[in-house]
Amino acid sequence: MSHPNQPLFSSYQLGDLELKNRVIMSSLTRARATNKELAPTSLMATYYAQRASAGLIISESTWVSAKAIGFVHVPGIFTPTQVEGWKEVTKAVHANGGKIFLQMSHSGAASHPDFFEGDIPRGPSAINPQLTTYTPTGPKDTVTPIAFTKEEIKQTIDDFEQAAFNAVVAGFDGVELHAQIFALIPQFLSMATNQRTDEYGGSIENRARLLFEILDTLKQVWDSKRIGVKFTPTAFNPGILQPDEHTIPMFQYILEKLNEYDLGYLHLVGPATDLTGTAIEQMQDIYFRQARDVYKGTLMANRGFTGETGNKIITDDHADLVSFGMDFIANPDLVKRLANNLPLAKPDTTTFYAGDEKGYTDYPYLS
Ligand SMILES: Cc1cc2nc3c(=O)[nH]c(=O)nc-3n(C[C@H](O)[C@H](O)[C@H](O)COP(=O)(O)O)c2cc1C
Repeated sequence: MSHPNQPLFSSYQLGDLELKNRVIMSSLTRARATNKELAPTSLMATYYAQRASAGLIISESTWVSAKAIGFVHVPGIFTPTQVEGWKEVTKAVHANGGKIFLQMSHSGAASHPDFFEGDIPRGPSAINPQLTTYTPTGPKDTVTPIAFTKEEIKQTIDDFEQAAFNAVVAGFDGVELHAQIFALIPQFLSMATNQRTDEYGGSIENRARLLFEILDTLKQVWDSKRIGVKFTPTAFNPGILQPDEHTIPMFQYILEKLNEYDLGYLHLVGPATDLTGTAIEQMQDIYFRQARDVYKGTLMANRGFTGETGNKIITDDHADLVSFGMDFIANPDLVKRLANNLPLAKPDTTTFYAGDEKGYTDYPYLS
């Protein structure tokens, strides 16, 4: 079907991968891996298959190793059972004509000793990020982490490499590196949590080193066009990871350096709130355009888009792809609804991060 003036519904060539439309399902943690192994289940395969009309699905945040865990019932991709579970998911998505990337994640200090039989989580420095983590026995405050040794950093990069390889075996079409909000990489980027004095701390280049070393390692496994990065300089997290006077220079550096990587895409999350009066006020209104001026590759825009604003940002040439998070929860047929201007269902927030098929696979398609 052709949709004049609605570029969201035109195809897009992502390297050698043709996306049938530009409506991307962004990563959504749904905490349904309710088994001891943290393996994807048949229910999860059904959920993703229901949403296969998206131009591309990006999986929920997935742990690259046992040490990366920081949220209850979130799946991993570091054991054979987990890989088998993911195979079922990718097969179901492909059978329904969809494509799916794996989002690779590490919690760093945004975790809790309960996940590690009492062992203290590792972070860039021994600084508590002051977050809440959702453990098997309920929400708990983060603790002061132990600073990564260089050996542990090397091991973490190797874990990403192994997980990237596992993603190939599991049948994914590509991988997305989670480098936003309060995950491990933002903890390294921010001076609030990174006070290291070695080559991973201090200057902008040093604080961003881990990000690029992980990308280097992912490129050993995947063609660069099958790798995306999800990033935002605009996340006002709970706790101490906040935009500050170092954020814009870091953003600029990352955008410029990413040009060297020839990635599939940069997935950029826009501000959730008015930036007036904040340290990143100058990004207000010009955020995606500003990024577009510097970053030359495929840009995927995210946060708060509608069919109308999604079409507009592509028409204005400030982005190539648009991702939708929340709207994909209650609208498995979101693409059809947006394309035909049909009403969107509202999701039940109480089942976002817990439960079974209720509020997960039981949202109907519009007939
Ligand atoms: C329930 C829920 C779970 C989420 N889980 C993740 C996640 O695992 N990884 C991630 O990068 N973003 C996650 N996000 C953020 C979304 O991918 C997206 O960036 C955000 O919701 C803004 O897009 P939207 O306005 O279209 O919802 C989550 C959001 C929601 C509502």
